[in-house]
Amino acid sequence: MANRSHSNPLTAILSGLLDQRSKDPKVAPVPRRVRLDGRTCLVTGANSGLGKAVAIRLASRGAHVIMACRSGIPEAGDDVRAASGSDSVEMIQVDLSDFDSMTAFCDELRDRRITLDVAVFNAGVVPVTSRTSKHGLELMFAVNFLAKFVVLDRLLHDGVIPNAVYGNNSRAEDPPRVIFVSSETHRSSIPIDFDTFGEPNEYGVADGVKYYGLSKLHLTTFFQELSRRLNPGGNGNVPDVCVHAICPGAINSNMAREAPTWLKPILKPVMAVFFQSPEKASIPVDYLVAADEMGAKTGEYMHMLRVKESSEPSMDPEKGALLWSKTEELLRRHDVT
Ligand SMILES: NC(=O)c1ccc[n+]([C@@H]2O[C@H](COP(=O)([O-])OP(=O)(O)OC[C@H]3O[C@@H](n4cnc5c(N)ncnc54)[C@H](OP(=O)(O)O)[C@@H]3O)[C@@H](O)[C@H]2O)c1
Repeated sequence: MANRSHSNPLTAILSGLLDQRSKDPKVAPVPRRVRLDGRTCLVTGANSGLGKAVAIRLASRGAHVIMACRSGIPEAGDDVRAASGSDSVEMIQVDLSDFDSMTAFCDELRDRRITLDVAVFNAGVVPVTSRTSKHGLELMFAVNFLAKFVVLDRLLHDGVIPNAVYGNNSRAEDPPRVIFVSSETHRSSIPIDFDTFGEPNEYGVADGVKYYGLSKLHLTTFFQELSRRLNPGGNGNVPDVCVHAICPGAINSNMAREAPTWLKPILKPVMAVFFQSPEKASIPVDYLVAADEMGAKTGEYMHMLRVKESSEPSMDPEKGALLWSKTEELLRRHDVT
């Protein structure tokens, strides 16, 4: 598949529109009859937009769904139960910009001896101008990338996600799946500056998308590195943990909630007409969760229903290893081990 890179976010968006018209083969959505009974699936940011639509799909297939949410408790859980017709849905509160909250969340999963078959890391944020978390980290860096590293490290270490590398009950005959919701904007990002890694960038309205793309480049580079680390045998061998990522395409969600007030009356109708519904956008995420073929591979990147390669920098093993060590260093400085 083509691995186009883009000099700016506009070319990424244009490429996204062209991809929608592309003749490249698409995968077929997983038929509704395919069941996930007995499976436990975590979905972060499941109170809104894509995450909520994914939670409904997985609950409809019979999975036990854990909605990890900062807000919307209990209403969003009630909505998911009503829409899916399943009562096997629970909500756990977590703020993915707050290390203490993430620790409490991971402690709860460990203490309840929960085993996850699927973890969909969906939560994301786009502040209109730069903001920092309570730990002084830029918010998109913290939520869109770092939180995934922190939570996954704990879930793998504690065996909540079974795996061989951390010495926790590998299940190679039925590998768990870890899925990241990324974005094609990772292609148009400025490179990761490893010399200033973790230092907050300041930006205004005009540069928000640029730094959003950078946070997704961090995430996509992490996804590739995690896939390599958890599956040293590489793709083509039976994976120990299937690690995949996806850009769901443009979604008519609450993502633009922080857009300037003057822009909202324009943005709302445009999004309603040109962007997909969260329900439609959830189809390829559901594919990564439920398709048999995605349980036999790792490191797959999808843009909507097309499998392609993520950007060249995100696939570079040297950059992946550096990202990993710099992240560990940063977390040590914040006393998160
Ligand atoms: N919308 C698009 O066009 C588009 C395109 C490509 C990729 N994506 C990606 O798709 C994913 C879902 O976004 P969406 O479009 O569905 O937007 P959304 O409706 O705004 O949903 C974002 C979710 O992330 C949660 N979240 C944000 N900050 C959090 C925090 N600190 N702790 C816990 N949860 C937090 C939100 O919770 P609260 O409601 O409590 O804030 C919400 O549930 C994101 O990763 C986004 O980057 C979106």
